[in-house]
Amino acid sequence: MITTTTVNPTIVIENLAQENESFHNDLKEIFEINTQVGWGRFNRGSMTRRAYSDPCPYLVAKVGEAVAGYIISEKNYEGQAYIPFIATNPDFQGQGIGKKLMLAAIENARKDGRTGVVFKYRGNKDHLKKFYTETIPTLAKCTFTTEDHGKFMNGDPKVGVNYEI
Ligand SMILES: CC(C)(COP(=O)(O)OP(=O)(O)OC[C@H]1O[C@@H](n2cnc3c(N)ncnc32)[C@H](O)[C@@H]1OP(=O)(O)O)[C@@H](O)C(=O)NCCC(=O)NCCS
Repeated sequence: MITTTTVNPTIVIENLAQENESFHNDLKEIFEINTQVGWGRFNRGSMTRRAYSDPCPYLVAKVGEAVAGYIISEKNYEGQAYIPFIATNPDFQGQGIGKKLMLAAIENARKDGRTGVVFKYRGNKDHLKKFYTETIPTLAKCTFTTEDHGKFMNGDPKVGVNYEI
């Protein structure tokens, strides 16, 4: 009898860094993830500039050699960690990669002495609301506030979140 076992892939969170041999390929795969989640090319310029800045603000989730997801976390003018982008390749969604990326960014922000972790999300997406306002604050053991930031360009409600870390 043949039995098959599904093994959770090993997910490794690492810094994206120009000195890594895989840097250019990793960046290519990050842009491929953007295409797959429907973000197109509009943010490619700002994301490329961020990738070449020092220190590089990206964390990537690797499964083997492949980039399965990424998060950007950079210092804003108020000394907080600001997260402009997080995304997981749809083939790997629902496997805990988003949680690992957010928790790693929060942990880094704590180590760096940031006063909070801030970002915006689409308030009409129930899975995002649960992820950002229940799952992550519980796992990271942090309180948070939310604020109405108006609307995204397509009319989706823009909710600002501030994790107090
Ligand atoms: C948001 C996102 C980064 C989460 O990444 P992920 O690797 O799937 O995250 P996880 O596997 O850790 O799952 C996080 C939660 O989302 C849920 N989830 C994941 N994919 C889902 C989907 N397609 N539909 C509904 N819920 C989903 C998981 O069940 C989990 O729920 P929980 O909070 O109850 O535990 C990912 O869905 C994504 O890249 N979305 C498209 C881009 C995007 O919207 N980015 C965020 C902009 S604010």
